Amino acid sequence: MSGRVPTAILISGRGSNMAALLAAAEDPTYPCDVVLVLSNRADAPGLAHAAARGVATSVVESRGFGADKPAFEAAMGAVLARHGVQLVALAGFMRVLSAGFCAAWAGRLVNIHPSLLPAFRGLDTHARALAAGVALHGCTVHLVSAGVDEGPILAQAAVPVLPGDTEARLAARVLAQEHLLYPAALARLAAGWPGVPAAADAALANPLPALPALSTNAAIL
Ligand code: GRF
Repeated sequence: MSGRVPTAILISGRGSNMAALLAAAEDPTYPCDVVLVLSNRADAPGLAHAAARGVATSVVESRGFGADKPAFEAAMGAVLARHGVQLVALAGFMRVLSAGFCAAWAGRLVNIHPSLLPAFRGLDTHARALAAGVALHGCTVHLVSAGVDEGPILAQAAVPVLPGDTEARLAARVLAQEHLLYPAALARLAAGWPGVPAAADAALANPLPALPALSTNAAIL
């Protein structure tokens, strides 16, 4: 091994977390080497960004497999194997993976979810956080297990819910944290991997840079 963990990023769409991981991995001291971006949709905008960065891309169209999830996952597994992938980062990958696939990649399959798990598993997390009236929301990087958004938590970042927040504003505030949290959490997981030097300081602090000033109203939320 080159001293870096051969890593694949799986996407279905925009790919902004993928872009954050690719940017981090451009530093040769980053412990993951992104050897592949794999999408289950040929029209995922993130594919062009990855290709422009010189990263190998591949498409395994899930639609083409219909309900045959084992065949879809076998096809993905073959592509991952061909690229020598050892670690898989889901970044907006919109397919639920089978228990078998999760078991095969146990400890080596990571996801980012836009909520402070275990709150708000599943979709529409920002709208649900607003509806629930929580004062803190955020994002979670976790290992992937068979239960959707249920695997062990690796790292979290919190953001305040501010007075007058809309779903879009809250989502943007969380996404900014996702882009900091995911590269940091993935690096911590990969550091100390066989053949990879351990991080000097493996502790991971909440990357939230600074809370915006809270108004008096926010203080009594
Ligand atoms: C992110 O909010 C991520 O947490 C969730 O899906 C979204 C993907 O966005 N799993 P992007 O494709 O990374 O921009």
